[in-house]
Amino acid sequence: MLPAELEMESRERLVFALDVPDGREALRFVRLLRDEVATFKVGLELFCAEGPPLVREVARWGGAVFLDLKLHDIPATVSRAVSRAVAHGGVRWLTVHTGGGREMLQQAVAAAGPKTGILGVTVLTSLNDAAAVEAGLNPPIARLVVRRAALAVECECAGVVCSPNEAGAIRRVVGPGPLIVTPGIRPPGSAASDQVRVADPAAAIEAGADVLVVGRPIRDAADPVAAARAIRAAIETTSGVR
Ligand code: C5P
Repeated sequence: MLPAELEMESRERLVFALDVPDGREALRFVRLLRDEVATFKVGLELFCAEGPPLVREVARWGGAVFLDLKLHDIPATVSRAVSRAVAHGGVRWLTVHTGGGREMLQQAVAAAGPKTGILGVTVLTSLNDAAAVEAGLNPPIARLVVRRAALAVECECAGVVCSPNEAGAIRRVVGPGPLIVTPGIRPPGSAASDQVRVADPAAAIEAGADVLVVGRPIRDAADPVAAARAIRAAIETTSGVR
C-alpha cells in the first residue's frame, strides 16, 4: 500500500537531482522536466552556490523542492536551521542525519511545520562495514540502517533515504506509512558511474521504494524528457499507479 500522499501519479514518485553547477542550468532543467517530474532535489553544492533564492525560483517555475542538506548538529541548531530553510516555502522534503539522535529528529520535525516532510538519512551509502568500524560505528551496516530508520519513524519523520538494497528490510520494520526514498537508480543499460549499490527503477519499487531520486541517467541522456518518461513508465508498470 502506498502512503496517502503518494496515491497519485508516477510524476510524484520521481525526483530529479539538480546536480548542476549553477542556478541558470538548474532552472533550465526545471522548465524542461516539470511535466514529467514533480520534485527537484537541491543538494549541498547547488545550495551553497545559490542559496534560498534558488529554492524560491524552482518553486516559481512549478517545482517542489527536495532540499538535501543532510543536517546534523545539536537539536537547537538543527531546529533553527530547519525553520529558516522552510521559511520561504516550496520545500517539500528536507533531509537530516538520523545519527543526530532522537531529540534532534523530533526538533527538526517540529520546526519543519506541516508543509515540509523531514526525511532521515540512515547511514551514508558511501560507507562500507570497514569504514563504519573505523568511524566508531557498530556494523553490520544493514542492521544499523534499519534501527535508524525505525528511530526516524518513531520521531515522526515523513520517511527515510536509503539505498534500494535496504528498502525491503526497512519496509518490513516501519510498515506501509513512511516514505522510502532511494537514490542509486539505474535504468537498464545506463552507466553505474560512481554508484556502487544500484537497482533499476522496477526493482527499487518492488523492494518497497516509494520515491526514486535520479540524476545522471536523466541529466546526461540525449533526451532527458524521454529518459524521465521511461522511468515513469517503469514505476507505473511495477506499482500500478498512473
Ligand atoms: O546521478 P545519480 O542518479 O547517481 O544521482 C543520485 C543523487 O542522489 C545525487 O544527488 C547523490 O548525491 C544523491 N544521493 C546518493 N546516495 C545517497 C544520498 C544521496 O546518490 N545515499
